[in-house]
Amino acid sequence: MAEESPSPGGSTPEADELTIDPWGSATVADYQSLFEEFGIETFEPLLGSVPNPHYLMRRGVIFGHREYDALLDAMREDEPFAALSGFMPTGDPHIGHKLVFDELIWHQQQGGDVYALIADLEARAAREMEWEDIDRHAKDYVVSLLALGFDPEEGTLYRQSTNTEVQELAFELGAKANFSELAAIYGFDGETDVSHMQSVITQMADILYPQARDQPKPTVIPVGPDQDPHVRLARDLAARMRYFGVTQAYASFEATDEERPFLADAYEHRDAYAAEPSRPRCEEAAEWLAAHTGAPESILDKLENAGKEPLRPRVRILDRNATPEAFEAMIEAIEGDKRVFDEHIDAFDLSRQEVASLTREIEQAHGGYGFRAPVSVYHRFMTGLTGGKMSSSVPASHISLLDPPERGAQKVEAATTGGRETAEKQRELGGRADECPVYELYAYLLADDDDELATTVYEECVGGERLCGPCKAQAADLMEAFLEDHQDKRAEWEEKLEELPVSFDSDRGPAN
Ligand code: TRP
Ligand code: SF4
Repeated sequence: MAEESPSPGGSTPEADELTIDPWGSATVADYQSLFEEFGIETFEPLLGSVPNPHYLMRRGVIFGHREYDALLDAMREDEPFAALSGFMPTGDPHIGHKLVFDELIWHQQQGGDVYALIADLEARAAREMEWEDIDRHAKDYVVSLLALGFDPEEGTLYRQSTNTEVQELAFELGAKANFSELAAIYGFDGETDVSHMQSVITQMADILYPQARDQPKPTVIPVGPDQDPHVRLARDLAARMRYFGVTQAYASFEATDEERPFLADAYEHRDAYAAEPSRPRCEEAAEWLAAHTGAPESILDKLENAGKEPLRPRVRILDRNATPEAFEAMIEAIEGDKRVFDEHIDAFDLSRQEVASLTREIEQAHGGYGFRAPVSVYHRFMTGLTGGKMSSSVPASHISLLDPPERGAQKVEAATTGGRETAEKQRELGGRADECPVYELYAYLLADDDDELATTVYEECVGGERLCGPCKAQAADLMEAFLEDHQDKRAEWEEKLEELPVSFDSDRGPAN
């Protein structure tokens, strides 16, 4: 059904080849490239403004974000916010998925409107799963999420395949994206089947669903960095759906993002060149920019063509998808000086913020969604217990949340470590906690909220006071206790599945 493609739609929390240092985010070269090449921002500077930060945040497991500050503002101001993530039911839920479950639960505890969805269409389209297996795994994910503390009365659980609102939204969003774009982002080509493309646009709808269903509000998507292309596309689509765009302008012509700072600069220095400083002219600004800055030719041309037109800052409202009524209402709503053009309006006396909230109000009053760009947080992938990747298809590399507790403990005992060849060397040089999957287990899961335990393990290890044998034995005990407790709670939820709004019997035909 589906071809292999470099699609980020492919993977759930699986490891990359990197070693991970949960304490120092800037030291890992390839995570660094996520910041430099893709514009993901480091999480650490935000930490101080997070109310009751989760231990995954405190320990740097959550290492990056896009515009998460917008969500934190809402959280602190007691304004509505949402969180949503999705799980492809292709195998057992494992300790990598637990990170995301915990992130959702934490946002719920902070008062968010939280969604967890089963990406069954994606599992079918991108992994060719049978519906029977999808159903079984879907149930296992949901039960673990509940056992870890998700409140199904406060939050929303759904399956992609049965949520008609999501399907309808996907259809509308599909009108704003085309094949070339999906090809560029996901490597799709002429062989890519249509269901796979549909699952991508369904994910876009998932991401915007909390806002479509309720009201525009900051919505965070906690995911691994492999999902970032989806987040970027969803942020784009959110903007494309808007009735109005808002930009800063300085004259009647359009400037590019690159050109705009030069216009701001020229306006700021108007006293230096304008014959009438209260009315600097475009041609005067061109002359000054040419002499004093490295302004691109393109903006000099635009200014010269504008001639004697005054250079005057304004907020520009662009008509993107507005209905004629909405456009009229927008004109009406602008206070102070304004100029109306065919496809845009310039407002001279309003701030960008004021205009932004006006456009959203008017859009909503005229049947639009008024989407805010979804924001994201990214967590590090766990290293596999056998070194290398943690992979759902290699049972020894991960611990399933369904593993019998003793089996989980055995896997910990059998894990590779960052220890030295001999106890003497370990005492002399210290262990390499930063390269140790067992240490990661402590930091990501076993130490839970107990920072002191995580720190002690780390310091004793690198200080040479801790040897791998006892360290693993302690971790194995903790893992066994965790799995026992988790599975007891699972058993309680298994009894109450009929109360849930999701069904685990999709009653669809066999493959192909
Ligand atoms: N593509 C995700 C994965 O591979 C699953 C998913 C579907 C998802 N819809 C989503 C993740 C919305 C975050 C938000 O695991
Ligand atoms: Fe890893 Fe513990 Fe050994 Fe350190 S002592 S290398 S943390 S197993």
